[in-house]
Amino acid sequence: MIGNGRSDIHVTITGLGAYAPERVITNDELSKLVDTSDEWIMERTGIRERRIAADSQALSDISLPAARQALEQAGSDGTDVDLLIVATVTPDMMFPSTSAILADQLGAKDAAAYDLSAGCTGFMYALVQAYGMVAAGLSRRALVVGGDVLSRILDWSDRSTVVLFGDGAGAVVVEPADTDGFLAFELGADGAGGEHLWLPGSGSRRFDDPERFVKMNGREVFKFASRVLVQSAEDVLDKYGAKIEDVDVYVPHQANVRIIDHATKKLGIPSERVVINVDRYGNTSSGSIPLALAEAQADGRLSPGSLVLMTGMGAGLTWGSALMRWTMGRAA
Ligand code: UT7
Repeated sequence: MIGNGRSDIHVTITGLGAYAPERVITNDELSKLVDTSDEWIMERTGIRERRIAADSQALSDISLPAARQALEQAGSDGTDVDLLIVATVTPDMMFPSTSAILADQLGAKDAAAYDLSAGCTGFMYALVQAYGMVAAGLSRRALVVGGDVLSRILDWSDRSTVVLFGDGAGAVVVEPADTDGFLAFELGADGAGGEHLWLPGSGSRRFDDPERFVKMNGREVFKFASRVLVQSAEDVLDKYGAKIEDVDVYVPHQANVRIIDHATKKLGIPSERVVINVDRYGNTSSGSIPLALAEAQADGRLSPGSLVLMTGMGAGLTWGSALMRWTMGRAA
């Protein structure tokens, strides 16, 4: 569990962008590939369709439009970004990092750039890191990207995973501000639960393992998710001394409508304050929270002064929350 840092520098999000590939795959299409049905998927997950990257699209390709959109909103052409963090479990390749590739594409010359791996919670971890760097005066303009091309690491004959996930990316610009945007964070991990969501043949332990696809114990992850979404949200609210009724916009990780509904009820937050887009995108891992945030901005739900609560969870097992006042204004 990570506590709150103390800094004289106020920090906020000044730009937000998102991108999802054009290709839509419906539940009916999936039911031609595996033994499943629209009815089962809707009842157990609330997912109607998801986006899948084209063969030619790697993570940097779907991240670039999201990054450009976020930078444009922040009034930057990208050349003044001095820190770039990409949260993902599906980088273009292990190295060079996708963040270094993106920094080059954006003209962010000499920016510090690295990828971060924390499963579906990656975006929350990266956000906290960017906050820390800006609050410490080490960065003046940080770009945080959360994105995944999970379709590449799915076993397309495994009905228990293939129905859940999709591809997408989102990005935010993090900068010093005149007033606090970020108010409190909470992060954590439980490696003992790592076996419930893992990618066997993906690293130095089992590099030759032909199983290069996501393996998941859905029921265990479901139980974990239902617990930590509530716990982490309550912890971050406690840290700032806020109550759930103060929250205007709640952006939970978009994994499954049932998990979100459970957290919403337990927390006692009115459903109209909850952002849900998992029905149209599935679980996009690190792309999930910034995609949902961008949707909330586009439909006018994120207004200046809104108190925003975000909570992620995923492989690791990991979780993390951020509480922020939506300000969008950078330091004068
Ligand atoms: O970022 C974190 C990522 N992961 C998650 O969020 C996953 C969390 N877990 C879940 O969302 C749910 O556990 C699932 C949606 C994966 C599964 O729902 P469930 O209600 O927990 O179903 P279950 O695993 O208990 O399976 C019930 C039945 C099983 O058949 P039997 O053993 O009862 O005969 C499964 O074989 O449903 C079967 N099943 C399917 N049937 C049709 C599993 N997947 C499918 C499918 N279509 N796609």
